[in-house]
Amino acid sequence: MNRRKIAIVTGASGGLGAATAGWMGKDSSVVVLVARTKDGLDDVAHHVEQLGGTALVIPADVSNPIACQHIVDTVLKQYNKIDALVNNAGVISPLVDIAHADIDQWRYALEVNLLGPFYLTRFALSSLRNAYGRIVNVSSGASRIPIASASAYCASKAALTHFNRVLAEEEPHITAISVRPGVVDTPMQAQIRREGSETMDATQYAYYVDLKAKDQLEPPEIPARSIAWLALHAPHDMSGEFRNYDDPDIAGPSLSVYGSTFKKV
Ligand SMILES: NC(=O)c1ccc[n+]([C@@H]2O[C@H](COP(=O)([O-])OP(=O)(O)OC[C@H]3O[C@@H](n4cnc5c(N)ncnc54)[C@H](OP(=O)(O)O)[C@@H]3O)[C@@H](O)[C@H]2O)c1
Repeated sequence: MNRRKIAIVTGASGGLGAATAGWMGKDSSVVVLVARTKDGLDDVAHHVEQLGGTALVIPADVSNPIACQHIVDTVLKQYNKIDALVNNAGVISPLVDIAHADIDQWRYALEVNLLGPFYLTRFALSSLRNAYGRIVNVSSGASRIPIASASAYCASKAALTHFNRVLAEEEPHITAISVRPGVVDTPMQAQIRREGSETMDATQYAYYVDLKAKDQLEPPEIPARSIAWLALHAPHDMSGEFRNYDDPDIAGPSLSVYGSTFKKV
């Protein structure tokens, strides 16, 4: 039996997912890196291995159930177990009010942010049960706060958070946690600033621009450290909860396990 933990991280080609994979590498885990862009994943894989982990790159679109089945099958064929699943891949578009939202973009957001986590959970469930494993669903404050011009994003994150509660209710051998990572300095925030000026609610757009201008965005490595710790070490009694990345009982132990140093990809 492989003693290293085997963890799948979706959305691992950049932002929070890449930083989470880095911390997991420091934990000597096997990190399965999933995203659509292979080049980005290869860079992150190199970083994970430099930090002491083992990386397996699987380019895939999590909105596609066949691709999600392929991810799980590939991991099981190679390692014969799955200890952790981090459903982190997410899209923010369409950044426009409901009255003008593109129907295909809206549906795709739900497919990536909600159905992808469902597909991967569904296909990995029996392996995760066997391993007494953990699932981290990367949610958002948007699951609770209505953000004008981000209806698909808010709805998908609210649904993901509630999905996590049902999952915890049904699966006593799994620890399932949804986490709010804060407002983080990643390509997703850059996309909001780049694309939102024309289409977004002006007050909402100004809020995000202002956070960056005032240097108030969280560096991805900080919430990512909490996500990595939750995926590999969270206590079972947290299962079903919606947690903030900086809750003291998460941020404290994650700092103890991983330390404060991180290297950027
Ligand atoms: N940044 C924030 O302020 C913030 C706040 C709250 C919650 N979050 C959540 O945190 C998570 C990570 O966000 P982030 O800020 O790191 O975003 P990001 O910088 O835009 O990165 C998103 C990642 O998801 C991947 N991805 C997107 N669509 C995908 C698909 N269909 N299949 C597979 N991978 C896909 C992207 O890679 P490819 O393009 O190569 O596929 C990328 O690796 C998301 O769930 C987001 O909603 C972020």
